[in-house]
Amino acid sequence: MKVLFIGGTGNISTAVSRLAIEKGIDLYHLNRGTRKVEIKGVKTIHGDISNEQEVSGALEKHQWDAVVNWIAFKPADIERDFRLFHKKTKQYFFISSASVYQKPVFHPVITESTPLKNPYWDYSRDKIACEEKCNQLYREHDFPVVIVRPSLTYDTEIPVAIGSWNDYTIVDRMKKGKPIIVHGDGTSLWTVTHSDDFAKGFTGLLGHQQVIGHAFHITSDELLTWNQIYEALANAAGTEANMIHIPTDFICKEAKKIDWIWMGGNFMEGNLKGDKAVSVIFDNTKIKTFVPEFKATIPFSEGIKRTLQWFEADKSRMVVHADYNRFMDTIIAAYEKALK
Ligand SMILES: NC(=O)c1ccc[n+]([C@@H]2O[C@H](COP(=O)([O-])OP(=O)(O)OC[C@H]3O[C@@H](n4cnc5c(N)ncnc54)[C@H](OP(=O)(O)O)[C@@H]3O)[C@@H](O)[C@H]2O)c1
Repeated sequence: MKVLFIGGTGNISTAVSRLAIEKGIDLYHLNRGTRKVEIKGVKTIHGDISNEQEVSGALEKHQWDAVVNWIAFKPADIERDFRLFHKKTKQYFFISSASVYQKPVFHPVITESTPLKNPYWDYSRDKIACEEKCNQLYREHDFPVVIVRPSLTYDTEIPVAIGSWNDYTIVDRMKKGKPIIVHGDGTSLWTVTHSDDFAKGFTGLLGHQQVIGHAFHITSDELLTWNQIYEALANAAGTEANMIHIPTDFICKEAKKIDWIWMGGNFMEGNLKGDKAVSVIFDNTKIKTFVPEFKATIPFSEGIKRTLQWFEADKSRMVVHADYNRFMDTIIAAYEKALK
């Protein structure tokens, strides 16, 4: 198979790229080349996908078995991809998000037929609009769409609810014994999936004869409380988590007052009430039916050790952001004041 990834060197797509190469796929990346990730065997086309004219020239001579856009966020991105790839690919994958599923949730078991609605998070509403555009293009123009919805998936990111993802701030905080914020009482249920596990499910969909027009989520079956997630992270960091439990509504209300960082404003409402503070159980029957070899095998307690080893292997990755610390300290101070 000849496959194109738009992106391909990210937190999820790097693991998928490595497995695709291992499976003998002739893999191309289209990215700007700003991330220095070496994946042996990948052929890279340098370009910025937002510059349609430039990339259409570079892509013109190619036909694909599958195109995967890892970085589509708005319906206009899907419309552009339709112009670029209609009649040029046998499959087109849109990477959506499991945060599209119904909030507030009416039933905790999430299947692919759970309704799509998220009044809290504009990111999720945009992903829903992209899915609708994909479905329309499939119905009206036979655009060979497949929708994949990752939930919180990690490899080179630290999967917490509040603190950081691409940097080392939360771990540094833990190591210094500073309090970390856990939403609610920390017993809501959540699933985090290692990108290597996600890759096993995802690569099984590439070239699959029966998946056009379908949507899939791909997650681990390991169900943890948020307290357990933070404990496992602290354990991997060789320390203990000094958790301060704060009601989700309080965090969202205080975060709304903060306008000097992207985590402020409405972000926490989307990130928590629209996603991570909601107890859900992903039913992975569908992906296992279409890709019988898929089984997630990396428990979070193991996977997070690998992630921290990756961060610690290069000091330039161990970035601590003073403004992320300030954000957490501001919310904790407001909560302690309110308690008094
Ligand atoms: N991680 C999660 O928990 C999670 C959960 C739900 C959904 N998702 C979805 O998963 C996707 C992210 O996948 P990922 O983690 O593999 O990606 P990522 O970490 O966001 O990586 C971005 C990739 O895209 C390339 N890129 C960025 N801007 C570009 C541009 N303008 N033109 C061309 N290439 C560009 C980057 O390389 P260069 O910088 O070198 O160009 C890199 O290869 C998103 O759609 C997100 O919504 C993720």
